[in-house]
Amino acid sequence: MEMLGIDIGGSGIKGAPVDLFTGEFAQERLRVATPQPAEPEPIAEVVAQIVDHFGWTGPVGATFPGVVMDGVTRSAANVAKSWIGLDAAKLFRKATGCPVTLLNDADAAGIAEMSHGAGKGKKGTVVMLTLGTGIGSALFIDGVLVPNTEFGHLELDGHDAESRASAKAREDHDLSWEKWAKRLSDYMSHLEALISPSLIIVGGGVSKKADRFVPLIQDVRAPIVPATLLNTAGIVGAAMAAAVAAGATNGRDLTRTA
Ligand code: BGC
Repeated sequence: MEMLGIDIGGSGIKGAPVDLFTGEFAQERLRVATPQPAEPEPIAEVVAQIVDHFGWTGPVGATFPGVVMDGVTRSAANVAKSWIGLDAAKLFRKATGCPVTLLNDADAAGIAEMSHGAGKGKKGTVVMLTLGTGIGSALFIDGVLVPNTEFGHLELDGHDAESRASAKAREDHDLSWEKWAKRLSDYMSHLEALISPSLIIVGGGVSKKADRFVPLIQDVRAPIVPATLLNTAGIVGAAMAAAVAAGATNGRDLTRTA
């Protein structure tokens, strides 16, 4: 069975139909640059463009880089503030004519990674951190997602953690891998003190270079492993969430992975 997943990011909006059982794209993905400023209406138009491109008529899953509760976007750290309090699922439904399930981008990536990637079959407390423009987080307890954890906004040295330890912070502040790994060590050990994870999965584009910084992370007890799905995870997780919402999985909750 296939479902359309769309990953809405700060620089690109990407979509593809996903084979739910393999977690692979059923067709080549389409990427459209994110309209700037990243306001709701122009983004909804791009979502509709992606739906049209695939001739899609069924349920759609989409990610958003902020808190999402019942289709309403509730925070907007790296996108326009006009998203806050907006019924974005309804806006996208109007733009596409399709029912749209909306969820946090890191939650979507985590769902995919827990089903088809580095978290497959992992029980206990597993946290996935996506290191990109911000820091996204997805928390799983025995394979069940606890949505919208927003651990990227924990305090680190008196600052919002993502402003110090995201992949963008490394580039903006021109940090060496060593210096960045020190910040990640402080951040992850703080997180570990709060939730005692049994596994930490590191995602986001920079996880391709995990060998440059993961071995340098210190004072963290939990094993730290790179994500394996890389830039497909958001799309795959969005498609899985849409399938669950549509009841299209024969009663099997694909997001309960363990
Ligand atoms: C947002 C999160 C999001 C993360 C990654 C953070 O700034 O608050 O909701 O998951 O960035 O995009």
